[in-house]
Parts: sequence; structure tokens; C-alpha cells
Amino acid sequence: MKPTVYITRKIPEEALEIIQASCEVKMWDKEDTPVPRDILKKEIQDVEGIYCLLTENIDAELLSEANNLKIISNMAVGYNNIDVEAASEKGIMVTNTPGILTETTADLTFALLMAASRRLIESSDYLREGKWKTWSPMLLTGQDIYGATLGIIGLGRIGEAVARRANGFGMNVLYNGRSRKMRAEEELDISFADKETLLRESDFVCVLTPYRPETVNLINESELALMKSSAVLVNTSRGGIVNEDALYDALKNGEIWAAGLDVFKTEPASPDHPLLTLPNVVALPHIGSASKHTRLNMAKMAADHLLQGLNDEVPAHLVNEVRV
Ligand code: GLV
Repeated sequence: MKPTVYITRKIPEEALEIIQASCEVKMWDKEDTPVPRDILKKEIQDVEGIYCLLTENIDAELLSEANNLKIISNMAVGYNNIDVEAASEKGIMVTNTPGILTETTADLTFALLMAASRRLIESSDYLREGKWKTWSPMLLTGQDIYGATLGIIGLGRIGEAVARRANGFGMNVLYNGRSRKMRAEEELDISFADKETLLRESDFVCVLTPYRPETVNLINESELALMKSSAVLVNTSRGGIVNEDALYDALKNGEIWAAGLDVFKTEPASPDHPLLTLPNVVALPHIGSASKHTRLNMAKMAADHLLQGLNDEVPAHLVNEVRV
């Protein structure tokens, strides 16, 4: 008998076909919105596999409903939407999709850095709104990228890929994280700095650390106060890592110069979000990995993981220690 799986959103056809070839598939395909929790709560009861997105909150309460679940395949590199500990306790495997989205997300991180520092959105709006009357010496002037200091908080795969791009821009790169990475320091010509030094010395600060209990509000009032008034903060990781109220105040009061944000504490962020009222914020709807090629590859990778788990193989990117 084929294993049964539940897919929480319409996914690309190529990924769906991989799953359909060997599974009985049920899917939330009514609309492009997250599956209602009560439906997921019901569906999780009998299936052996769940294929989900970062929009699903797979917490202990939901997991307590699962009777046959072997694997949760998350189509994202971040998996803070899943209570991994609760899954492990029930012997449920959890997988993510690292690696294939690294370069795409690093591109977007750099795009945000550039857009915020050179005021691209503001400048484009200025032109479209008919405000452009003449070339003017100090009109829409921003901050230099070339030769500036970049501070990377969280030097994982994406952090390293951002550092490589920074090298091309002649930037001096500092990083902070849980441990020193000697290989990366040598290969990328970057230096470890404690968090305070990094914040004080950087012209750009990129937040790329995963969301964990200890990274919630990692950038708060006192961290923002250490930054230069000309500094640009970029967050392409998870919203809760930067305290949004403190960031709003720092941007509004000129304590830092601009921010580029792809992620928010609550997503989708409301159009009335205070940060969106500020001209020095470039804000995006969580599109870090959103190139056609990468999203398709993520969808297929998550499909492969699902089948590996259902076939009692160790999935390629298992994030918890579950005996298979
Ligand atoms: C996107 O944010 C991801 O974690 O893949």
C-alpha cells in the first residue's frame, strides 16, 4: 500500500509528480493561503508524511494529534516553524532545504544592502511621482558600498556567500557567530569580531543567524545604539531577531541610517506596519530565495526528503536525531 501524505499548499507540478509517483496525496490546494489549522489538525492524524512550508506552525499541540507520522519535510532552510523537540520525542523526522538557496538568498541580501544604501526605491518613487526637476549635487545621496565595512551576524552558508560578494566590492568584512571559522577567515579574508565591536565598526550589518530562543531580539535598542548613524541594517533571516519597535525608533531618530528588511516578526506584515511608513526602509515580502530556479529546486528537494523518510532511509537533510 502506498504511504499517505499531506501537502499543505499547492507546490510546483514537478515536485508534486515526484510525490504522487509513490504516495497517496492529499493537498491543501484551495487557494494560495496557509492551510487552516483545524484542517491540518485533522489531516495530520493519519498521514505518514507532511510536506509543509514555513507558514505552518507545526507545534507540540498539532504533533500530539499525529498517530502515524514519520516525517515532516519543510520546504525552507529555516525550520523555526516546527517544534523539532516535540517531533523528536515522537520519533518524527524533520528535514529542511539548505544549500540550494544559498546563492539566491545571498543575492537578495546584497540587493537589499544596495537598495537601502543608495536609496533605490525612494529614488524611483521620486521620479515616478514627478518630483525630478533637475540634477542636483546632493540630491538623493546615499552611502558608499565600495570599501565600506560589512558586519555579518551569523556566518553560515549564506553569510559566507554574502562575504564573497562583499569581497568583489572591496569591503572589509567582520563576522560574529557562535564560533570562529578559521577556514572561512582564511579563504574569504574576513575577521571575527565580538558583537559590540562589529556593531560599532560596521557600515553595513547583515543579520543572517537562524531564529533560535537565544537569537530573539538579538538586535535591540542597545545594539542599535552602538551602530554608526550612517549604518545600514539588513535582515534576511527571521523577523523576531531584530526588535521592530527598537528598529523603528532608531531609524526615525537617525540613530542608524537605513534598513533593508525581507522578514518581519509577524508575516505577512500589514501595509500599516510602522516600519513601512519610513522612507529609509526598503521592505520586501520574504522573497530571499525566490528565484524560479531555486524555488523549484527547493520544492523538489523537499519532495525527495519526504520519500526518503517514508522509505526508512535517512533523509539527506535531517535536522533531528531520530532513529530511522
Ligand atoms: C526562507 O526563509 C527559508 O528559510 O527557506
